[in-house]
Amino acid sequence: MKWVKMFDIKVLQEHDFVKLVAVGGKKLCAVKTGDELFATQAYCPHAGAGLAGGWCKEGKLICPFHRYEYDLRTGRGAEGQGDYIDIFPTETRDDGVYVGLPEKFNLMGLFFKKK
Ligand code: FES
Repeated sequence: MKWVKMFDIKVLQEHDFVKLVAVGGKKLCAVKTGDELFATQAYCPHAGAGLAGGWCKEGKLICPFHRYEYDLRTGRGAEGQGDYIDIFPTETRDDGVYVGLPEKFNLMGLFFKKK
Protein backbone atom coordinates (compact mmCIF):
# COMPACT_ATOMS: atom_id res chain seq x y z
CA MET A 1 0.00 0.00 0.00
CA LYS A 2 1.21 3.47 -0.81
CA TRP A 3 0.20 6.45 1.36
CA VAL A 4 -0.44 9.66 -0.55
CA LYS A 5 -1.29 13.07 0.90
CA MET A 6 -4.89 13.94 0.13
CA PHE A 7 -5.42 17.17 2.08
CA ASP A 8 -3.52 19.72 4.13
CA ILE A 9 -4.19 19.38 7.84
CA LYS A 10 -6.36 22.54 7.68
CA VAL A 11 -9.08 20.47 6.02
CA LEU A 12 -10.14 19.32 9.48
CA GLN A 13 -11.34 22.84 10.21
CA GLU A 14 -13.66 22.90 7.19
CA HIS A 15 -17.36 22.17 7.27
CA ASP A 16 -18.48 18.71 6.26
CA PHE A 17 -18.23 17.99 2.53
CA VAL A 18 -18.41 15.43 -0.24
CA LYS A 19 -16.04 16.29 -3.06
CA LEU A 20 -14.09 14.91 -5.96
CA VAL A 21 -10.34 14.96 -5.43
CA ALA A 22 -7.36 14.01 -7.56
CA VAL A 23 -4.72 12.05 -5.68
CA GLY A 24 -1.69 10.88 -7.55
CA GLY A 25 -3.48 11.70 -10.81
CA LYS A 26 -6.45 9.51 -9.90
CA LYS A 27 -9.94 10.49 -8.89
CA LEU A 28 -11.45 9.74 -5.51
CA CYS A 29 -14.55 10.84 -3.66
CA ALA A 30 -13.58 12.40 -0.33
CA VAL A 31 -16.13 12.67 2.45
CA LYS A 32 -15.68 14.72 5.59
CA THR A 33 -18.24 14.17 8.31
CA GLY A 34 -17.49 15.56 11.72
CA ASP A 35 -13.87 14.76 12.57
CA GLU A 36 -13.69 11.86 10.13
CA LEU A 37 -12.49 11.73 6.55
CA PHE A 38 -13.25 8.91 4.15
CA ALA A 39 -12.02 8.16 0.66
CA THR A 40 -14.07 6.09 -1.76
CA GLN A 41 -14.04 5.23 -5.42
CA ALA A 42 -15.21 8.18 -7.51
CA TYR A 43 -18.05 6.54 -9.44
CA CYS A 44 -21.15 4.69 -8.39
CA PRO A 45 -21.21 0.98 -9.25
CA HIS A 46 -24.91 1.13 -10.12
CA ALA A 47 -24.85 3.34 -13.20
CA GLY A 48 -21.65 5.35 -13.01
CA ALA A 49 -22.77 8.58 -11.37
CA GLY A 50 -20.11 10.73 -9.74
CA LEU A 51 -20.42 10.00 -6.04
CA ALA A 52 -18.99 13.43 -5.23
CA GLY A 53 -22.35 14.88 -6.28
CA GLY A 54 -23.99 12.95 -3.49
CA TRP A 55 -24.23 13.55 0.21
CA CYS A 56 -23.54 11.91 3.53
CA LYS A 57 -26.26 10.77 5.88
CA GLU A 58 -25.79 8.78 9.08
CA GLY A 59 -22.53 7.20 8.01
CA LYS A 60 -23.71 6.44 4.49
CA LEU A 61 -22.74 8.01 1.19
CA ILE A 62 -25.84 8.62 -0.91
CA CYS A 63 -25.51 8.55 -4.70
CA PRO A 64 -27.16 11.55 -6.35
CA PHE A 65 -28.67 9.60 -9.27
CA HIS A 66 -30.86 6.90 -7.76
CA ARG A 67 -30.03 7.40 -4.10
CA TYR A 68 -28.35 4.10 -3.51
CA GLU A 69 -26.59 4.12 -0.15
CA TYR A 70 -23.10 2.91 0.71
CA ASP A 71 -21.67 2.44 4.18
CA LEU A 72 -18.60 4.66 4.53
CA ARG A 73 -16.80 2.17 6.77
CA THR A 74 -17.45 -1.08 4.93
CA GLY A 75 -18.39 0.08 1.44
CA ARG A 76 -21.44 -2.17 1.51
CA GLY A 77 -24.54 -1.11 -0.32
CA ALA A 78 -27.82 -0.95 1.57
CA GLU A 79 -29.85 -4.13 1.92
CA GLY A 80 -31.23 -5.23 -1.43
CA GLN A 81 -28.69 -3.38 -3.53
CA GLY A 82 -26.21 -6.25 -3.64
CA ASP A 83 -23.25 -4.03 -4.45
CA TYR A 84 -20.44 -2.14 -2.77
CA ILE A 85 -17.90 0.61 -3.26
CA ASP A 86 -14.19 0.58 -2.59
CA ILE A 87 -13.20 2.40 0.60
CA PHE A 88 -9.58 3.44 1.01
CA PRO A 89 -8.02 3.92 4.45
CA THR A 90 -7.22 7.45 5.59
CA GLU A 91 -4.76 8.58 8.21
CA THR A 92 -4.31 11.96 9.86
CA ARG A 93 -0.68 12.97 10.29
CA ASP A 94 0.96 16.19 11.51
CA ASP A 95 1.07 17.70 8.02
CA GLY A 96 -2.11 16.42 6.49
CA VAL A 97 -4.58 13.66 5.80
CA TYR A 98 -3.25 10.73 3.79
CA VAL A 99 -5.01 8.02 1.84
CA GLY A 100 -3.69 4.50 1.43
CA LEU A 101 -3.84 3.27 -2.12
CA PRO A 102 -3.02 -0.19 -3.42
CA GLU A 103 0.32 -0.35 -5.25
CA LYS A 104 -1.18 -1.71 -8.44
CA PHE A 105 -3.59 1.17 -8.40
CA ASN A 106 -0.94 3.47 -9.86
CA LEU A 107 0.33 0.93 -12.33
CA MET A 108 -2.93 -0.04 -13.89
CA GLY A 109 -5.62 2.37 -12.76
CA LEU A 110 -8.10 -0.49 -12.68
CA PHE A 111 -9.65 0.60 -9.43
CA PHE A 112 -10.80 3.83 -10.98
CA LYS A 113 -12.61 2.40 -13.96
CA LYS A 114 -16.32 2.94 -14.00
CA LYS A 115 -18.08 -0.25 -13.05
S1 FES B 1 -25.96 5.66 -10.44
FE1 FES B 1 -25.68 5.64 -8.28
S2 FES B 1 -27.56 4.88 -7.55
FE2 FES B 1 -27.76 4.77 -9.69
